[in-house]
Amino acid sequence: MFDVDKIRKDFPIFKNDPGLVYFDSAATSFKPQCVIDAVNDFYTRHTANIHRGDYDNSFIVSKDYDDTRKVVSKLLHNDDPDQIVFTAGATASLNLVAYGYFLDHLKEGDVILLTLAEHASNILPWFEVAKKTKARIEYIPLNEDGTFNIDNYKECLDKYNVRAVSLPYVSNVLGYINPIKEICALAHEKGALVNADGAQAVPHIKVDVMDLDVDFLGFSAHKMLGPSGIGVLYAKKKLLEETTPMMNGGGANARFNKDGEVILKEIPVRFEAGTPNIEGVLGLKKACEYLMDLGMDNIRKHDDEIVRYLIGKLSTLDNVKIYNPRSECSIVAFNVEGIFAQDVGSYLNSLGIAVRTGNHCAKVIDNIIGTTETIRASVYLYNTKEEADKLYGAIRDVTLEKCIGAII
Ligand SMILES: Cc1ncc(COP(=O)(O)O)c(C=O)c1O
Repeated sequence: MFDVDKIRKDFPIFKNDPGLVYFDSAATSFKPQCVIDAVNDFYTRHTANIHRGDYDNSFIVSKDYDDTRKVVSKLLHNDDPDQIVFTAGATASLNLVAYGYFLDHLKEGDVILLTLAEHASNILPWFEVAKKTKARIEYIPLNEDGTFNIDNYKECLDKYNVRAVSLPYVSNVLGYINPIKEICALAHEKGALVNADGAQAVPHIKVDVMDLDVDFLGFSAHKMLGPSGIGVLYAKKKLLEETTPMMNGGGANARFNKDGEVILKEIPVRFEAGTPNIEGVLGLKKACEYLMDLGMDNIRKHDDEIVRYLIGKLSTLDNVKIYNPRSECSIVAFNVEGIFAQDVGSYLNSLGIAVRTGNHCAKVIDNIIGTTETIRASVYLYNTKEEADKLYGAIRDVTLEKCIGAII
């Protein structure tokens, strides 16, 4: 049974800040006590470096660190923990794919396929890689409402020499789920590889990397109940073997000599040079276990229920424009007629309601939805219909005067 009241008791922030209504989990999520305890335990009971100490605490944290690859694998339905690389987050994972793999595998005339709904982290690294390799970026035209158009995608695959396809699994502005399995199958027929930006997917939906047959998938722990500064790159082993580490140093090499001959350690350790974010990894392990205990399908069902409820309520208001009425995953994007999104955000803040306003780092999506700024309410497993009612009530009553009053 999915019991939100019980779940909320696991998150100390609700006790410490009982009035807060938090609809910004797409930016970062709250953390349950078990994650906080795991990080705290590392600092207060088991501080040690990993794989470097001949004493108990180092053995304990090394084992926990290594076991985390198995736990993340279970979450992703991946059968080989060596295909899990710890990174600093989704941005670091995307950069590792773009620079570590594609910089060496693209050439003039090759095409990188993206969409206009990309987060900056899945577009800026490609600009650089395109410049350096003389490959070209093309954008798959989306449907008018921002959903994926498979026919347009097929046309791009037929028309261009596509080598790389890099897309969000779930859009962080509109909450639409891209059909990654079909996208991969079609790309593979043409010999292209697919990188899925999983930042907004892994926290919310069941992700099965083997069923998707996706080549690369990156995500951040902090959006899925884990600590900040830690994330994951999943990649097929064969591709990791052909990926150049972006950092070199201690922990990642087996041997080197004064002439510059270096033998790197095996995969995935070779991508984790230096002392890693150990406490982050240990927190990520607990976060994955917590999510799996609740069940990803149950989490998705709950998120959907709140999203549908909120969209239903907001759509009764004449002065509200909803940009994603068919949102499929945790996000409601809207505006109040005649009031700048950020002013509404400030007003909501004055009532103890946290939302995100602005372009959400997707700075070219205005080409699709016709606006650069939206109010984004993002839902997660601890949100309730009562909270949705509070947001709805505030939006129903909002006026320009009240917003100005909240700012000055
Ligand atoms: C779709 C998407 N990709 C990438 C990122 C970047 O994540 P991070 O800042 O954790 O690296 C985000 C963060 O909002 C996102 O929503």
